[in-house]
Amino acid sequence: MKVAVFNAKSYDRDSLTKANTIHNHDLSFFPVRLNLETVILATGFPVVSVFINDDLSAEVLRQLAQQGTKLIATRSAGFNHIDLDAAQELGLTVVRVPAYSPHAVAEHAVGLILTLNRKLHRAYNRVRDDNFSLEGLLGFDIYGSVVGIIGTGTIGSCFARIMNGFGCKLLAYDVYQNPQCLELGVEYMPLKEVLTMSDIISLHCPLLPETFHLINGETLQHLKPGAMLINTSRGGLIDTKAAIEAIKSGRIGYLGIDVYEQEEELFFEDLSDTVIQDDVFQLLQSFSNVVITAHQGFFTRNALANIAETTLASISEFAEGKQCQHTITKR
Ligand code: NAI
Repeated sequence: MKVAVFNAKSYDRDSLTKANTIHNHDLSFFPVRLNLETVILATGFPVVSVFINDDLSAEVLRQLAQQGTKLIATRSAGFNHIDLDAAQELGLTVVRVPAYSPHAVAEHAVGLILTLNRKLHRAYNRVRDDNFSLEGLLGFDIYGSVVGIIGTGTIGSCFARIMNGFGCKLLAYDVYQNPQCLELGVEYMPLKEVLTMSDIISLHCPLLPETFHLINGETLQHLKPGAMLINTSRGGLIDTKAAIEAIKSGRIGYLGIDVYEQEEELFFEDLSDTVIQDDVFQLLQSFSNVVITAHQGFFTRNALANIAETTLASISEFAEGKQCQHTITKR
């Protein structure tokens, strides 16, 4: 099928081209993001493949449907960037990649924990500067720490297994108890208690209306003073301004984020020659106990290969008139 691949970076092109040797679709790569200005490029393409920072609002979807698009294939697990109501009304099928490598994201969360705890970001710069002092680099043993997991689905349970290996006590909050986590000894409890008892909290639930700003001025009050907060899920789970206040008061002792509320203005682009206009982001960056990565949790060779294969396999199913296995249906 003719596929318009939006937001196509070199690594998307490479992984999709490699996987396409089996599927033989007609892929056209557009480096630009999909939005109202660029949607015209998709004219005549029955399939449009997108990523998390593309605009799939009702207006864009309407235009796509008018231009002949039938299938939207997002190369992501999360789908909060797609107006599913509008897609359904317009008769557009939407598919995603539900799990490409939970290990990639879970391991990245652990990377943020180790970096923040042992201050590797600061140590790296010091040694490069011939400063071999250890002052200010004191960490704590992860072994024996209490780790709170918010959302114990595919990624959260993978993270639980890794932290279990470190010898941590595991607590969790989820609307559903995962039997694999229960078997591991994870104790489920209300959110407030998880926040109160944990030394490290890691967010692994999706961004939904009910999880928007799950971490806010009120819930942050329950945090153990000096606790570490990690978010590799979606920026909207944390009220960033409230988190900044909590960092300033010492309530949050460490913050590691791979996602940021306003990331669509920043992430995935080289903006090193521009003046960043986002004051909240710049303030966040200024704290030495904050480590920010630009949504790279998913970014491993293994994950990219799985994303490409699953996306193209869904398109093949659609081309053959089959029910696509990874169709997103409205909750
Ligand atoms: P999943 O669907 O397997 O697990 C999500 C878990 O959250 C489920 O156990 C679910 O019951 C729970 N949950 C749902 N509503 C909740 C609520 N109101 N409160 C508490 N828990 C709730 O999803 P998966 O694959 O583990 O991914 C989790 C999130 O990770 C995705 O939604 C996505 O936003 C993010 N993600 C981030 C990536 C990155 O590169 N940083 C890459 C892939 C996913």
